[in-house]
Amino acid sequence: MILVTGGAGYIGSHTSVELIKNGYDIVILDNLCNSKYESINRIIELTGKEVPFEKVDLLDYDGVKAVFDKYDIDAVIHFAGLKAVGESVEKPMLYYNNNITGTLNLLRIMNDYGCKKIVFSSSATVYGITKVVPVTEDMPTGTTNPYGSTKLMLENIMRDISVSDSDWSIVLLRYFNPIGAHESGRIGEDPNGIPNNLMPRICNVATGKMEKLTVWGDDYDTHDGTGVRDYIHVLDLADGHVAAVRKTFSTNGVMTYNLGTGIGYSVYDLIKTFERVNDTSVPYVVCPRRAGDIGALYADCTRAEEEMGWKAKRGLEDMCRDTYRFLINNPNGYSE
Ligand code: UD1
Repeated sequence: MILVTGGAGYIGSHTSVELIKNGYDIVILDNLCNSKYESINRIIELTGKEVPFEKVDLLDYDGVKAVFDKYDIDAVIHFAGLKAVGESVEKPMLYYNNNITGTLNLLRIMNDYGCKKIVFSSSATVYGITKVVPVTEDMPTGTTNPYGSTKLMLENIMRDISVSDSDWSIVLLRYFNPIGAHESGRIGEDPNGIPNNLMPRICNVATGKMEKLTVWGDDYDTHDGTGVRDYIHVLDLADGHVAAVRKTFSTNGVMTYNLGTGIGYSVYDLIKTFERVNDTSVPYVVCPRRAGDIGALYADCTRAEEEMGWKAKRGLEDMCRDTYRFLINNPNGYSE
């Protein structure tokens, strides 16, 4: 059985559906601090399978232990964690305690139960303010905020664990910019509060929740001056986790993979594609650069293809269309 921590969240819910479709039995653990139980209902609806769910916080050591007592867990996909960059700057202790202590609890318990296979949600944020693109996995790392630091620290903690005990099999997945939603329109991203990321903000403008999008800078050294990122469809990302978990059953040690498309799109590319495929408009104003942003960041995904046989299949149009479908079908997200 696969334990999916954070399985009620955006990437976790899509991955849960793909795992079940690929024949895996799963149990979802989530404290629902940034997600809703309704996403579990939707996973059940999409797969036609009952999915065991445990509302447990990773900071609750005994609670997590009880989950390992109750189920026969062979491997863990670990999504659970706090992820808002700005909030992490304001509340570093919250981020270090939650992300680091929570993961250490999980790893200690896994070790005690002899479950030594883990797929971890890392992020392209570990490349810091790199100027070289596309980035490969062996390029230098560095971070600019506590959220990013927790990701890099956890990568390093897991590398040390693997050095100390070669039975561990650890796959570190560095996500680029996940967007899109399940093609059914039943699961998607449902951010709490005011989102910071580009696609959720485009959605807010398209639905009239925000009047205009702010484009943070049009003077970067990119094809149209706006920031370039590697947007990846959340279902491609989900497939990447299925490939990664498979990898943990065949190879020991630590493996690090970029998960992106390898293609960089600008803010304007995203706005224009979103408007065209969804026949809607996204008014915007150009403002100065956002502090801490870099011009272009996109991935070299050769290693994931060579070693896991995984490659992103969906394009920007699919990402924009699927995002909008979830939005239109669920104007209040997962809330009533
Ligand atoms: C941000 C985080 C990063 C995190 C990632 C995924 C920062 C500085 N970086 O990265 O650590 O891993 O999200 O959660 O917060 N943009 C606009 N207007 C907007 C929003 C964004 O022009 O309203 C631009 C940005 O300047 C950037 C691009 O859109 O060029 C993408 O931004 P965003 O979605 O926030 O992702 P990242 O900057 O890649």
